Amino acid sequence: MSTDKSILLCCFLLKYFMCCHGIIWDDLDLPPQHLPGLFNLIPHLKEECRHDASCNFKAHLNSSTCWSYQDGCHFTRSWSYSQPICNGDSRGWVTSKKEQLELFYKQADFGFVEEQRQQLRDFCHSDVKSGLVSRLECTDHLKFCRGQHIWLNLTSLATRSQPVRYHMDVLSSGDVQVSCFLSAVSLYHHFCDFVNLYMSQHVNASDVNAFSTDVQVLIWETYPYVSSFAAAWRAFTRHPVRTLADFAGKRLCFKLVMFPLLPRMIFGLYYNTPLVWGCERSGLFHAFNRHMLHRLRVPPSIALPVVRVTLLARHTQHRRILNQRQLVQAARSRTDIVFNVAEFEHGQDLVLQLRTIAATDVLVGMHGAGLTHLLFLPDWAAVFEV
Ligand SMILES: *[C@@H]1O[C@H](CO)[C@@H](O)[C@H](O)[C@H]1NC(C)=O
Ligand SMILES: *[C@@H]1O[C@H](CO)[C@@H](O)[C@H](O)[C@H]1NC(C)=O
Ligand SMILES: *[C@@H]1O[C@H](CO)[C@@H](O)[C@H](O)[C@H]1NC(C)=O
Repeated sequence: MSTDKSILLCCFLLKYFMCCHGIIWDDLDLPPQHLPGLFNLIPHLKEECRHDASCNFKAHLNSSTCWSYQDGCHFTRSWSYSQPICNGDSRGWVTSKKEQLELFYKQADFGFVEEQRQQLRDFCHSDVKSGLVSRLECTDHLKFCRGQHIWLNLTSLATRSQPVRYHMDVLSSGDVQVSCFLSAVSLYHHFCDFVNLYMSQHVNASDVNAFSTDVQVLIWETYPYVSSFAAAWRAFTRHPVRTLADFAGKRLCFKLVMFPLLPRMIFGLYYNTPLVWGCERSGLFHAFNRHMLHRLRVPPSIALPVVRVTLLARHTQHRRILNQRQLVQAARSRTDIVFNVAEFEHGQDLVLQLRTIAATDVLVGMHGAGLTHLLFLPDWAAVFEV
């Protein structure tokens, strides 16, 4: 067997769990409140569950809750998962409440996904009558692509002198091959940040495998992958995460491939996102919170009679609270709050960090990346940025 063939077999092969013995329902592994969304997106799945004795999700079959990017599920409908509100002033961004809501929905909610899904069109496909059909579908500006039977030629990577990170020139003209004619394509680096990866799954969602973890992740870098967030990959894949270095010098065939939305899209979510003022409750971010906590087995938050305050303590030169000791003392002398100091910089296990955050009512922290933890707060929580 040639190298090419063995790679073809081992990489990016999506094993369908919808096989001869029906669907293994537990493999869906979605938070219960997201099951109606999937069932309403894929109607035949609903029927299969209804008629399959082994499907334990029957209680979710009659719910009309749907992902707002679906037809007939506009966020103004009560059955839409997204229910954004805009009680605040838009500060001149728009002239009416309706526009404010629509804009927020497009910028920071599933409206973003909806737009991508509408833009998705055939970029090219091979029209061989027999054999493998290659195709590549992309959204405008190739923000998101997915393909079938696509070859990537990573031969020149093996002789490259500089390691690759944030590079846009990994593939040159001719390195992406399908049976159809393709002129130069630039597929940008895509170190996949988790919100964008989750959004991309929604852009891609069309069948029972939409959120499957039986996928291989390839990080578009040659550096070894080391991250304190590595555990978060468990929400996306049950296989080890690979980098370009694992395949340098080889040709890779992707049976099914997704090039997700970039973490740092210009005017995209959620890096330098332009965002209308006065709105809140993005269904997309809510769904991301539930999905991640569910997959990482962090128990859902429950409200307690006491208020749990968590201070994110950091020890970098510019993000240090000088009178932290006095602050903690004063806070701990109160009986109506439980005051917790979280020092996440000491390489604490990500899941333990998320457990702390998911059980926090008020999060206090310095301006900075550490506050990204707010993604995992309960719905009712408040953030106090110092
Ligand atoms: C859902 O609706 C069907 C048909 O209307 C009904 O037979 C079934 O009992 C309902 N199931 C649940 C769990 O409510
Ligand atoms: C892959 O790329 C290398 C180096 O650019 C080139 O020599 C080789 O012919 C390419 N292979 C195919 C099948 O196009
Ligand atoms: C994209 O959707 C297809 C089904 O249309 C699914 O099989 C595949 O797993 C999805 N890709 C990813 C990376 O989730």
